[in-house]
Amino acid sequence: MAEATELRVNGEAHRVEADPDTPLLYVLSDELALRGPRFGCGLAQCGACSVLVDGREVRSCVFPLAAVQGREVVTVEGLPAWHAARSGGPAEALHPVQAALIEAQAPQCGYCYSGMAIKAAELLADNPMPNDAEIVAAMTGHLCRCGTYPRIVAAIRSAAEAMQPG
Ligand code: FES
Ligand code: FES
Repeated sequence: MAEATELRVNGEAHRVEADPDTPLLYVLSDELALRGPRFGCGLAQCGACSVLVDGREVRSCVFPLAAVQGREVVTVEGLPAWHAARSGGPAEALHPVQAALIEAQAPQCGYCYSGMAIKAAELLADNPMPNDAEIVAAMTGHLCRCGTYPRIVAAIRSAAEAMQPG
């Protein structure tokens, strides 16, 4: 029997007994009932499955369970609390990028939304006021079949402004 893997997901400790080679996405969905990260391509090409591991975006469809042993995973469900912990502010219902994406009506079918929000949150944690070229560069590799890229860029710009201190 495979050794158990211990990890934290959205602030909660878990012990998972799946095979260590199991993609993290399957563990999140099937063992922990977190359906925010989506299965798109399964090949690390679209970004629908993105989550944060120790604050860095990874493609959970190809990221093995063994690689998250002892590490901190954040899915879109945990983004608001992750942001509150980082900023020292109150926990809101949504991370500012989630709120801005919704305000801009960026999600159409919504399939890419979770991964987009994860990547945008990572970007704004690294670079609190990116210009449009930096936003586009960061989001390259996150595919939206509905083609809402202009709204996504505008939403990230708006979230960056909303997150400025004062
Ligand atoms: S489903 Fe993981 S990158 Fe497409
Ligand atoms: S909103 Fe449909 S894939 Fe992006």
